[in-house]
Amino acid sequence: MSNQQLVHLPSSDGEGAKKSFNSSDWRDYFEENRKSRPAIRVPNEIVLDETLRQPLLKSLQTFQIGESGDGRHLRKYAKKLGDPVYMQCMDMFIKEEQNHSQMLAAVILALNGTLINWHWSDLVFIGLRRLFHLKTELFILMIAEVIGKVFYQYVSERVDNEPMQEVFSLIVLDEILHIEFHTEFLAEQLRNYPWMAKFAAHYIWCVIFYTACFAFVLDHKTTLAALKISSGEFIETSSRIFHRAAIRSLSLTLV
Ligand SMILES: [Fe+2]
Ligand SMILES: [Fe+2]
Repeated sequence: MSNQQLVHLPSSDGEGAKKSFNSSDWRDYFEENRKSRPAIRVPNEIVLDETLRQPLLKSLQTFQIGESGDGRHLRKYAKKLGDPVYMQCMDMFIKEEQNHSQMLAAVILALNGTLINWHWSDLVFIGLRRLFHLKTELFILMIAEVIGKVFYQYVSERVDNEPMQEVFSLIVLDEILHIEFHTEFLAEQLRNYPWMAKFAAHYIWCVIFYTACFAFVLDHKTTLAALKISSGEFIETSSRIFHRAAIRSLSLTLV
């Protein structure tokens, strides 16, 4: 995708190159990503094997809720930074998440499912995110981004349906850049924190990540089984991406 060339992209899956956060670069990226977005048409009906359709619907309903937030708190915290360009980035980032929610809603309806209004995991994530301030919010958001990215990627690779592959591949590309966006921002913000604070933050972040990951595989075990993914594989893949992002965000070095 040409839009990804606008921002130097080591990617959250790749080796962590060091690059300082530049909100103008990210604004350019988000603008270009919006303009060059391919129009994906979700058909009115998607037919899948019933053993996959039922559990997948439940999982997609959860993600659809999670992606649909209005980002009010993120905006409020970001505003305090006093960087209007970062605010623009945050607005465009939130719009991309809302676009994911719309695409997921279209897929859910095409699978003959209904949209839900709430899910316990969404309430937990929202509660945790609002505990302190922007950085805490981004720490928790990053966990959701990583788990979402890994899940969407498995769906794009393992569901034998072209429109769904198109939808989920597009979302995965966005999520890779979202992880990168938050990672670069956190690295910039946390650069001068004392190393003790960084190690403590890393420890707590890992505990919350693994708790969320285990809760996810337990709650979605039927879907993962239908996609032929073991819980261990899901956690291992998520963990690899999370650790690269966390290490870079905190400017820690692996030994
Ligand atoms: Fe998303
Ligand atoms: Fe995202």
